[in-house]
Amino acid sequence: MTLLPLPYARHALEPWLGRETVTLHYEKHHAGYLKKLLELTAGRPGRVTSLEWIIRSSEGAIFENAAQIWNHDFYWRSMQPDGGGAPVGAVHEAILDGFGSYERLRREFLDAGTGHFGAGWLWLVLHGDRLQITTTHDADLPLRTGDTPILCADLWEHAYYLDYRNERARYLEAFIDHLANWEFALANWSDAAARASTRTPITEGSAAPARPPLARSR
Ligand SMILES: [Fe+2]
Repeated sequence: MTLLPLPYARHALEPWLGRETVTLHYEKHHAGYLKKLLELTAGRPGRVTSLEWIIRSSEGAIFENAAQIWNHDFYWRSMQPDGGGAPVGAVHEAILDGFGSYERLRREFLDAGTGHFGAGWLWLVLHGDRLQITTTHDADLPLRTGDTPILCADLWEHAYYLDYRNERARYLEAFIDHLANWEFALANWSDAAARASTRTPITEGSAAPARPPLARSR
């Protein structure tokens, strides 16, 4: 198991997220979770080949570190340079179906993220056949509830403190208005729809859901 590369340069999200924020977040926090997981699972080589299986079958520190690796992989790909704003096409149609308008989604995203107490994650998920906004605490993630992640924002202070200090709302506004990767959202939404149509069971070693695919270039 290795650390997935960032899908862009460390300065690529400026001015919304600075090079120092991305570098520390990726090289210290994200990489730190992988280092810790490998320490915790040393001597159990058969269990570290599938991150998703560890997440679904573990508790405690092993779950927390595995989930944080998955969450960060997904987070980096939930952003892109010159992203954000209202999407077009199929995702926009799904947003209208789930929220009534993009403005309503944006408001729910900001309200849920700023209202979440402490560390955690802010998600756009597919719940059944509808998009929803939800949050999870600490390392928890929608894979444990059956919802399908579509986009996520890191709510841990290390994600934004260097750029925004304690102003989480400004960080989340930058995310939704300038960074959100709607092409990644579309890929996740399309994959979920395809899985639903084939009803593929998830078993150990299966590829569904896979670690996040690389973001598509604009
Ligand atoms: Fe983080």
